[in-house]
Amino acid sequence: MKTVICPSLMCADQLRLYDEINALMTAGADMLHIDVMDGEFVPNIQIGTETVKAIKREFDIPLDLHLMINSPERKLGYFDFGEGDCVSVHYETTPHPARAAQQIRETGAKALLALNPATPLSVISDVVSCFDGVLIMAVNPGYSGQKLIPETLLKIKAAKTLLPDGYLIEADGNVSFDNAGVMVKNGANMLVCGSSSVFSHESDYKTSIERLKNL
Ligand code: DX5
Ligand code: ZN
Repeated sequence: MKTVICPSLMCADQLRLYDEINALMTAGADMLHIDVMDGEFVPNIQIGTETVKAIKREFDIPLDLHLMINSPERKLGYFDFGEGDCVSVHYETTPHPARAAQQIRETGAKALLALNPATPLSVISDVVSCFDGVLIMAVNPGYSGQKLIPETLLKIKAAKTLLPDGYLIEADGNVSFDNAGVMVKNGANMLVCGSSSVFSHESDYKTSIERLKNL
């Protein structure tokens, strides 16, 4: 399975989003990772629902929506997604993660369960078949530019061992070139690429994305 490269739009130039998305697509991005934050579950607010809808309408690239919002099962209709897209809801935000997954899957999109660093992998064990993947936060959600919590690398490894073949295992947070190598080795097959890699200004988007794909 090829590693799916998902540049994180919150790390792009917010005043030039249109050009940034075009540049990322030309550079070989597989999906656009869009962090949606409600200022309640996480101490930050972005990216707005109208912006997400406009991106969906304007661009022919799958979205990887990461919903850091309370009660996501009541708010999925605020967004526009479907076949080919991925949508992650946090375990910590709802007593009904499997209901949210069902609603996501009804649109044709894939449903992922996102886990904070302090949330054990075992919370997915009784609802594995309701989801297509797991998003493992390697930092506390809310901000880019944070340092990896090393235990999360072991969580990725455990996910690879315990979850079914073909299950999506997404790593999010401080996915630097160095950390990405370990994450992929441990079983991550989707990488959220933010200020630590694609937007690090170390090299252009194309070079960075190719480097990540070749890990
Ligand atoms: C956290 C975000 C970040 C970000 C990635 O909620 O999901 O992980 O986009 O950026 P860096 O590489 O700075 O962690
Ligand atoms: Zn994210």
